[in-house]
Amino acid sequence: MSGINYSEKIPNNVNLGEDRTLQRALEQWQPNFVNWWDDAGPEDSRDMEVYLRTAVSVDPQGWAEFGHVKMRDYRWGIFLNPGSADREIHFGDHKGEKAWTDVPGEHRANLRRIIVTQGDTEPASVEQQRHLGLTAPSMYDLRNLFQVNVEEGRHLWAMVYLLHKHFGRDGREEAEALLERRSGDQDNPRILGAFNEATPDWLSFFMFTYFTDRDGKFQLCALAESAFDPLARTTKFMLTEEAHHMFVGESGVSRIIQRTAAAMNELKTDDAAKLRAAGVIDLPTIQRYINFHFSVTIDLFGADESSNAATFYSSGLKGRYEEGKRDDDHVLKGQTYKVLEAKEGKLVEKEVPMLNALNEVLRDDFIKDSVAGVNRWNRVLEKAGLPHRLSVPHKAFHRNIGALSGIKVSPDGRVVSEAEWKAKVDEWLPSADDRAFVASLMGRVVEPGKFANWIAPPVIGINRQPVDFEYVRFA
Ligand SMILES: [Fe+2]
Ligand SMILES: [Fe+2]
Repeated sequence: MSGINYSEKIPNNVNLGEDRTLQRALEQWQPNFVNWWDDAGPEDSRDMEVYLRTAVSVDPQGWAEFGHVKMRDYRWGIFLNPGSADREIHFGDHKGEKAWTDVPGEHRANLRRIIVTQGDTEPASVEQQRHLGLTAPSMYDLRNLFQVNVEEGRHLWAMVYLLHKHFGRDGREEAEALLERRSGDQDNPRILGAFNEATPDWLSFFMFTYFTDRDGKFQLCALAESAFDPLARTTKFMLTEEAHHMFVGESGVSRIIQRTAAAMNELKTDDAAKLRAAGVIDLPTIQRYINFHFSVTIDLFGADESSNAATFYSSGLKGRYEEGKRDDDHVLKGQTYKVLEAKEGKLVEKEVPMLNALNEVLRDDFIKDSVAGVNRWNRVLEKAGLPHRLSVPHKAFHRNIGALSGIKVSPDGRVVSEAEWKAKVDEWLPSADDRAFVASLMGRVVEPGKFANWIAPPVIGINRQPVDFEYVRFA
């Protein structure tokens, strides 16, 4: 494994200096990236010095360094996990063959599409979160937001490196386009739906980092199995950073629930109006935010039946979550999987070829993983002695992609009429009133150690620093 070269303009562990053409191309892209950051990155953050971790190695024993840096001077770089020369493809039609160090011509278009789609989500989430710094509930949370933002920027670098190195002129054009699309833009939006939704408040932000960054985890895990070795090695390192993003989401929601539960006990009530008057977020509102972010996120896995998914798997481009730990034949021909469809007003299971259902397989793995965290949130309620529980909605609820997109389904999985949907939608998804209430709580609390009223402080700080550490220095 080669060390990280920080003396170069672009920190890297890929011997970038030995490939002058590639180095020059990336050095030309670099100022465009910084322009994008200035234009679409965290608002009014230019002079702040933020206590960030910067990747300095891919060694699991210590890959990051912490220190106060201005975000636009963050050392975004290119880091691949170490490869092994004899790695074999372990699924699909090429199983047993040597993994590819370059892109085979016949898979070029599909691989480019996979990398561009993944790459597009990274700057999109930074754009979605760009105003949140103005309403941070604490200096600690502000720092965490910015850490997530710079790392999504680095994930963009990771995909852009692959495009530049392996896809020639098309790759360079795609890398430029990644800086041109904008989340929510009418004319030039980001590629995937959930990445064009607004992230208007911190409850949305924590839900997004819990659910949608977890989609990122599952996509990256599937790509970490890829026969295209540079993609596998890049995504493996991205996963080490992704874990923190999901921690931010899970602990953020958990601290909100903790504060709400304390107010419920103090006031001896679960009346939403009384709790709102006390300045905390009532559990039904939290549940509706869960319903929204969960449903929008599971759409990201794509149609339940997809011939593209079959092609990506069989040709070795994208594996399953934890492919190596599964004890089937890793080819999956002749195997089946159950997907849902609506028949005569009811949801029924239908058996389809597993290869075509691999989006659904990944979605189901994601659902299992997200439920685990919701159970941990419920433990906060349990500890507070409250009988209330949160849950994820049925997977057919509020879907916009696949066979379930044409029907209306309640959070508990009943197919409902258009009329019932309209009558109940404000109980099931955040209403304009919910959003206005949550927005009304969003002040700006940034004195060290102080927290907004609607969220509990964390138990410990970042990198073993105290909770009241000066995580952000304002100019
Ligand atoms: Fe990311
Ligand atoms: Fe992330």
